[in-house]
Amino acid sequence: MRHHHQLLSVLFLASSAFSQVAFSSSAKRGLPFVPSPQFPQDNQIRVEPGSDLTWFYNYMWAPSPEFSAIAQSHFEYVPMIWGAPANDDDWNFLNNVTDMIKEGRNISHMLGFNEPDGPWSQGGSNMSVSSAVEAWMREIEPLKKLGVKLGAPAVTQRGQDWLAQFMAACLNCTIDFIPLHYYGNLSGFQDLVSRVHTTYPNIKLWINEFGFDHVALQPTQEFFNDTTQFLDSADYIERYSWFGTFRSNASNVGPNGCMLTQDGKLTDIGSWYLGGAATNNVPSVASKIYSIRTDIWVVVILVMVMNLFWLMV
Ligand SMILES: *[C@@H]1O[C@H](CO)[C@@H](O)[C@H](O)[C@H]1NC(C)=O
Ligand SMILES: *[C@@H]1O[C@H](CO)[C@@H](O)[C@H](O)[C@H]1NC(C)=O
Ligand SMILES: *[C@@H]1O[C@H](CO)[C@@H](O)[C@H](O)[C@H]1NC(C)=O
Ligand SMILES: *[C@@H]1O[C@H](CO)[C@@H](O)[C@H](O)[C@H]1NC(C)=O
Ligand SMILES: *[C@@H]1O[C@H](CO)[C@@H](O)[C@H](O)[C@H]1NC(C)=O
Ligand SMILES: *[C@@H]1O[C@H](CO)[C@@H](O)[C@H](O)[C@H]1NC(C)=O
Ligand SMILES: *[C@@H]1O[C@H](CO)[C@@H](O)[C@H](O)[C@H]1NC(C)=O
Repeated sequence: MRHHHQLLSVLFLASSAFSQVAFSSSAKRGLPFVPSPQFPQDNQIRVEPGSDLTWFYNYMWAPSPEFSAIAQSHFEYVPMIWGAPANDDDWNFLNNVTDMIKEGRNISHMLGFNEPDGPWSQGGSNMSVSSAVEAWMREIEPLKKLGVKLGAPAVTQRGQDWLAQFMAACLNCTIDFIPLHYYGNLSGFQDLVSRVHTTYPNIKLWINEFGFDHVALQPTQEFFNDTTQFLDSADYIERYSWFGTFRSNASNVGPNGCMLTQDGKLTDIGSWYLGGAATNNVPSVASKIYSIRTDIWVVVILVMVMNLFWLMV
């Protein structure tokens, strides 16, 4: 009996060492989506059967055509109001989200302004606290009546003062959750998350952009493993989305955190994030012609042009 038991343990150890072990799966994981016009097949990887991703956002307020036919219950689209409305008569965000809901899309969460404490040159929406409060009450707060959960403006990791001023000034705002951004090492990540949780203990947090940028593969994977394990276990973390869903040679955060190699294959992190096993595909920088921030700029310019157009008519 005893021998038999030992044999079984040896067999078990051998099989776990040689089989491909799937990474933990989590319903909290989402996709910060930036389309890949050059490689449309990259977009589909995230929604293939087996992927554990449950939601996505695209820095805009209309679902990306690549995913718009997928039911909300399967892959929830979360609209974002990226920056300041063009003027007091600009109701596009509220109108469009309301229309989506009327048309039957179950919009259950929205994201507030993207990095309002950051300059445009770094992808921030550069807003004063007072204009953010004004725009919030006009264009965001009314969505509460439609049952939408409202996400605070997502400040940069140096933006806690901006957020504190916003929270103090926006007394009539409903803040259902606070989204955070963080780039750097594990101790900095832990500091930020615990500081924000201590300051707002009753508000759930989303970490909707994070990574350990521009470091080697090993520390990147260590950071990925440690943070995902923490985020999955902490009950005050409602959702998270790893930044780096694109190809390693089209990245502004270094190649090693990317979900896809330069050839569009899932990296270890890419596969783990979807709940799969390591692929041993090593990301590299083949060439760097544009960065993801360029794509965000295209979106920003489009939104500005749309706003100008509405001003003129
Ligand atoms: C938003 O709403 C405006 C005005 O109703 C409409 O013209 C526009 O197409 C909508 N945009 C998107 C991206 O759905
Ligand atoms: C809408 O989505 C939310 C969150 O995913 C869910 O709790 C709710 O049941 C959904 N409502 C409908 C009508 O499907
Ligand atoms: C921020 O926005 C103001 C206008 O509201 C503009 O004058 C300023 O140049 C912007 N600054 C940055 C750093 O983006
Ligand atoms: C909040 O709403 C109340 C009631 O409508 C109003 O009297 C008050 O001025 C508002 N406070 C702020 C800071 O906007
Ligand atoms: C982690 O990052 C923080 C903030 O950038 C820095 O102060 C600290 O020295 C770093 N720690 C290690 C172990 O590199
Ligand atoms: C990360 O987690 C995976 C899956 O559990 C494991 O195979 C890998 O060795 C870990 N890597 C590091 C650097 O901790
Ligand atoms: C990345 O590499 C692929 C080849 O694998 C190439 O076709 C593509 O143009 C590269 N993208 C960038 C942005 O350099």
